[in-house]
Amino acid sequence: MIYLDNAATTFPRPQAVIQSVAQCLNEYCANSGRSGHRLAIEAARKVFEARETIAEFFNVTDSRNVIFTANATMAINCVFESLLEHGDHVIVSSMEHNAVMRPLRYLEKEGTISLSLIPCNEYGFIHSDIHPLMQTNTKLVVINHASNVNGVVQDVASIVKRVKSYDPDVAVLIDASQSAGVIPIDVQTIGCDFIAFTGHKSLYGPQGIGGLIINTARSLKPFIMGGTGSKSESQYQPEFLPDKFESGTLNLPGIVGLQAGIEYIQPRMHEVRAKELQFIQKIAESLSNIKGLRLYWSNTLDRQIGVISFSHEKIPCSEIGQRLNDEFSICVRVGLHCAPLAHETLGSFPDGTVRVSVSAFTKDSDIDTLCRAVERITKV
Ligand code: ALA
Repeated sequence: MIYLDNAATTFPRPQAVIQSVAQCLNEYCANSGRSGHRLAIEAARKVFEARETIAEFFNVTDSRNVIFTANATMAINCVFESLLEHGDHVIVSSMEHNAVMRPLRYLEKEGTISLSLIPCNEYGFIHSDIHPLMQTNTKLVVINHASNVNGVVQDVASIVKRVKSYDPDVAVLIDASQSAGVIPIDVQTIGCDFIAFTGHKSLYGPQGIGGLIINTARSLKPFIMGGTGSKSESQYQPEFLPDKFESGTLNLPGIVGLQAGIEYIQPRMHEVRAKELQFIQKIAESLSNIKGLRLYWSNTLDRQIGVISFSHEKIPCSEIGQRLNDEFSICVRVGLHCAPLAHETLGSFPDGTVRVSVSAFTKDSDIDTLCRAVERITKV
């Protein structure tokens, strides 16, 4: 089997991740922060260590600003819930995933917010100035750092700079679902207010764990309330971080698995990225010779991650995906990738694309087999 659906979830996971999750479940998987016994203390220590690792990874000064969530979707929804009020205006790029679009369209439809889209060019790059879209009631700008459809990378630091030069009080949320673990992300350098990330993609952790980086002093409403193990005498939600935003039992196996994933990828990021880009270049070169096939990627390796899409003028994407699976044991994802807006921007809506996404475990021979398989399938 050749697994090329890493943009959905990385597979396989590093052995160190598997071992750390197993060790947690076997040896200390108690409830962190809830009791004073040795296992609960060990669990709390592991949560603290993971929070510190993540803070260091994103250059967050105080690890209390790292909030654990189930995934990036939850982190994104949390920002909307905490921040947005009636009458606010929100700006998003036209490459956003439904994790951003669905909650915002909901709020727009019920009359809570108004929404503007920043146009992107045919490759998916933001190519117009954001200033003309900004209004006196603009509260938030959301930018997808790297596309899950065609792998293009936005220049988030300069977008944040432009937004803040217009109004420093406008918050910026970066959706780093696909970029965290691929591109170094320094929250201080980027200067954004929030980063949403997930553990199960390029951070090589398990599913069900992700997080929100908070890099703002503005007042935020808690987005989930309940038991925290702290201030238990009070019926009111604690005001201090991270407890203000973390109620309910934490996903300890996920948290230690995420830490192990970061420890796996951090020292290799540069080398893995270089290899992944070689694969993308090879796929682009090889498939560009196929008549009737259209490629979707940045066309420039310095603004690309290990994700590339294609479609064929005569053969539906679903058929290509099915044949890759059935005849060649190659796993890819076809369709709209939960990102209809991005596909509209790229001109691949409503049919979508066949998406190929690589990881640290992809081999040269996997890419050779894929290219030969696509050539065979498209020989019509
Ligand atoms: N958002 C994930 C993907 O692109 C699941 O496949």
